[in-house]
Amino acid sequence: MGCGIKTWGITKEIPKIDNTVANNDGLKPHFPEQERKHPKRKLPLIDCRLGDVGDFDAPTALITNKQKSEIDLNLIKNSLIRHFIFNSLTDEQRAFVIEQMKHYSLKPNSVIFEQHQSGKNFFVIIMGKCEVRVNGKRVNTLKTGDSFGELALLHDTPRSATVRTLEKCTLWALDRKTFRDALEALNATNYSENHHFINSVPLFQILTPGQKEALVCSLTSHKFSNGQRIVNEGDPGDLFYIIKDGTVSCISGDREIRKMGKGDFFGEQSLLYNSPRTATVIAIDDVRCVAI
Ligand code: CMP
Repeated sequence: MGCGIKTWGITKEIPKIDNTVANNDGLKPHFPEQERKHPKRKLPLIDCRLGDVGDFDAPTALITNKQKSEIDLNLIKNSLIRHFIFNSLTDEQRAFVIEQMKHYSLKPNSVIFEQHQSGKNFFVIIMGKCEVRVNGKRVNTLKTGDSFGELALLHDTPRSATVRTLEKCTLWALDRKTFRDALEALNATNYSENHHFINSVPLFQILTPGQKEALVCSLTSHKFSNGQRIVNEGDPGDLFYIIKDGTVSCISGDREIRKMGKGDFFGEQSLLYNSPRTATVIAIDDVRCVAI
């Protein structure tokens, strides 16, 4: 028998599986004798020490479908909201992504994945520290609330770095398929919303339908909260922003030059003239922009 679940606004029929023991393929992993003697004990989803790692990372991790505490939920949610890929998920999409995440428990000095391996999961750190090594050299240290492992999943490339635990760590992991589904859903939502938006901005009405289409396809979406700096005076410029919602303040030195809102744009000068940013732009409420 199947049951209906809602993913990305589409109701899917999924087979009913026993969450406490099923792995990604819906197959039941084999557990050693002593596990079977304690039927009430919560069994691991997969114990990588048993060898069958499938789509899982970290060969020495204990992976479970442990229930998420309020602390876990808040940490994951805040980590996703701060993340450039996930910050425009709707609340419903974010809740679905979080629901799919699996709990990894690791000892100190455990490899989560090696540089050049294929990408299987995206991780959020709940407890402990991890190091990031590129060609054997430490390039970064990650702590509670930080996330990693998105690049290989996003670009479909090998891992750009090795990540290992420096101390006992607990992580929540999002599998590749759910990660890619979330991206697709985001792209679809952003595409139709941006299409509508570009059609409503007078600046773009001189463009032909084909040019508008090309523009929509090249836009990226960005969210900023009250007080956040979007561009800094003197910095090199790499993006041109158009405001979809909210208000920003443009500041030169310590003087406000103007406020801008929906349909206004900024950041074009440093791209046109290859010069540093001529003003600082700060969000003064919740701001959504598209950028080229
Ligand atoms: P990915 O390439 O999938 O796997 C290694 C991950 O390490 C990478 O994604 C990033 O999420 C993370 N990372 C953090 N800091 C760095 C860094 N300085 N260089 C490369 N990867 C980093």
